[in-house]
Amino acid sequence: MYWVRDSLADTSGHGAAPAWIYTLLFAVVLAFLTLVPVTAIAQQGVAPSSIESPSPTGGAVPGDVLGTSSDSDYWRAVRGGVEGIVSIPDKNAATLVQSEGEAWRSFRNGPMSLYLSWALLGTIVLLGIFYAIRGRIKIAHGRAGQTITRFQAVERFGHWMLASSFIVLALTGLNILYGRYTLKYVIGNEAFAFVTQVGKYLHNYLAFAFMAGLVMIFVMWVRHNFPDKTDIKWALQGGGIFSSKLHPPAKKFNAGQKVIFWLTILGGVSLSLSGWQLLFPYTTTFFADTFDKVNLVFGTALPTDLTYLQEQQLATLWHSIMSVFMICVIMAHIYIGSVGMEGAFDAMGSGEVDLNWAKEHHSLWVEEHLADIHDRKGDKPAPQPAE
Ligand code: HEM
Repeated sequence: MYWVRDSLADTSGHGAAPAWIYTLLFAVVLAFLTLVPVTAIAQQGVAPSSIESPSPTGGAVPGDVLGTSSDSDYWRAVRGGVEGIVSIPDKNAATLVQSEGEAWRSFRNGPMSLYLSWALLGTIVLLGIFYAIRGRIKIAHGRAGQTITRFQAVERFGHWMLASSFIVLALTGLNILYGRYTLKYVIGNEAFAFVTQVGKYLHNYLAFAFMAGLVMIFVMWVRHNFPDKTDIKWALQGGGIFSSKLHPPAKKFNAGQKVIFWLTILGGVSLSLSGWQLLFPYTTTFFADTFDKVNLVFGTALPTDLTYLQEQQLATLWHSIMSVFMICVIMAHIYIGSVGMEGAFDAMGSGEVDLNWAKEHHSLWVEEHLADIHDRKGDKPAPQPAE
């Protein structure tokens, strides 16, 4: 019994843990509490660099128990998108919270998608109404039965490379934007995942065929597409599109086609550049560079200190808006080049068009063309009526 009492007595005396052990334990717990948040930040690979230490009265946690790193200023700055320093290759990880990302997401999935879908549907409806009112534009004098060459094989090759790649890019791009709300419900999750993955590869690689086609048609047709005075007359008569009797004179391309040509070239370049930015992310600063030039020319104050992430976000928005704009323009072009006008498709099909079609729509070009042929043969050109 004695020894028991002795040993009990020991707990408060000789055998008890010395005070330094408690101090050590306290220090370990304190170090742990301090290290956990720091490690959490380190795991993200981020150490915010540009946050000033709060002043002793500036909101530091009382007693500095957690150090100045838990100060609300710190997290406010992180929430505000402050960029820290990272040693890992992904420099975007230096920004823990990027608020523009949320604005980007809601704009892309909200108003942008909605208004673009209205633009697409609106164009289809307008073309339908136009067809219902005007019907197919006929060759007023009927087919002559004689043809002339409108486009050489190389021209048709360039056009169809551009056209077929554009159509696949348009369909796969629209799937990226709207597929999850539409196609997915028609074909199911599994098939949609497969189609979207294949579509993504097609979209990436066919972009190069599109760019090549764009260069080809630019080189081959640019000289026919500079505006001249025949375009004014053509435009003033509405291209004769509203009357089957009116055929304003036109050279190889009329004013409407010149508009399509320049929209295709400029829109195509813009789509290619923004697409390039999406294909090779975080390597280009196209928007900052463009804004810089725009500010210089127009005296505006567009932001030029964009981060790579903001560049990417702008590129996706611009790419989507431009592509839907181009799809609307090209739908009108496809309409007039196929169902909308008798005899038009032959120009890009066989390359040979009916002589009466050519005289009605491109009278000045027919005159030049026939004069060229006769010159080459050494004959005098036969006069051709321009209608
Ligand atoms: C099924 C789709 C398409 C059809 C049926 C079609 C038809 C045609 C035809 C018949 C022409 C010659 C018009 C003439 O003889 O004066 C033409 C020209 C042209 N096409 Fe297409 N095309 C299609 C798609 C595209 C696409 C996707 C693009 C561009 C992305 C495009 C760009 C052009 C351009 C720039 C011209 C010359 C300017 C003009 O005639 O408007 N085409 N196309």
